[in-house]
Amino acid sequence: MPLVCLTDFQAYAQDHLSKSTWDFIEGGADECFTRDDNIAAFKKIRLRPRYLRDVREVDTRTTIQGEEITAPICIAPTGFHCLVWPDGEMSTARAAQAAGICYITSTYASCTLEDIVATAPRGLKWFQLYVQSDRQLNKQVVQRAESLGFKALVITVDTPKTGNRRCDFRNELDLHMNLLLKDLRSPKEIDALTEVVAAVKGKMEVYLDGGIRTGNDVLKALALGAKCVFLGRPILWGLAYKGEHGVEEVLNIIKNEFHTSMTLTGCRSVAEIHQDLVQFSRL
Ligand SMILES: Cc1cc2nc3c(=O)[nH]c(=O)nc-3n(C[C@H](O)[C@H](O)[C@H](O)COP(=O)(O)O)c2cc1C
Repeated sequence: MPLVCLTDFQAYAQDHLSKSTWDFIEGGADECFTRDDNIAAFKKIRLRPRYLRDVREVDTRTTIQGEEITAPICIAPTGFHCLVWPDGEMSTARAAQAAGICYITSTYASCTLEDIVATAPRGLKWFQLYVQSDRQLNKQVVQRAESLGFKALVITVDTPKTGNRRCDFRNELDLHMNLLLKDLRSPKEIDALTEVVAAVKGKMEVYLDGGIRTGNDVLKALALGAKCVFLGRPILWGLAYKGEHGVEEVLNIIKNEFHTSMTLTGCRSVAEIHQDLVQFSRL
């Protein structure tokens, strides 16, 4: 049976990954409220489509930090892709390059930054940093990423301590790395988006990750002011399915869904996605 939406890839990954790997990618902290809330929050939002517009041509392209991407859907940093597929982040990087979107490589990538860049030299890549107390170490890592052509630094600031990941404790998962600064909760809910967008007053781009599973979710996030969204777990599900080609399929499906959502709501370009698409009275 073909996989037709992102949650089909989730079911495939659950069936085919070992229990400890599945628990690692799917798990959240404590009772996983934030993870589940992120997904539920999108479903509560209702859209108000615009009809009778000429939507024969719909363009999903946009820019982030001045770089053009084919759609406002990119790859969030997640660590240890080799747990899920043999050549891990190298597959992810090639899929991102083929899709023409940005891939944020994690501090905890299981391939070297050099190998990731060599395998997808033309892809737009940013580097995610967990700031360590050793300033010299931070400097070295940042300089290495910069010299390899990573275009931006994404600093994760919500991780003074690792979340209480019960499944990983039960599975006695040991990733042979210093995980002290790692936090796999997703606290960037859509509920906070409008507050952040209002606070920055257009002075900087705002991105959102956490809970994006459909093209409609992407449209809602953009209508509420995000410039781009990032996918975490769905990329790992695609990787578990067929490596690079599985990630490409995941990206194609959500990009097509986003194109359909734009068409059905009367948006011909990303610039036409406005707040008035959202029914605030029903929030
Ligand atoms: C298995 C896993 C590993 C992650 N690793 C990192 C990481 O290394 N750095 C980071 O900043 N965020 C990390 N995250 C958080 C993701 O970037 C993202 O915020 C989170 O997965 C929410 O998006 P999602 O709902 O699309 O999965 C990780 C998340 C998961 C599930």
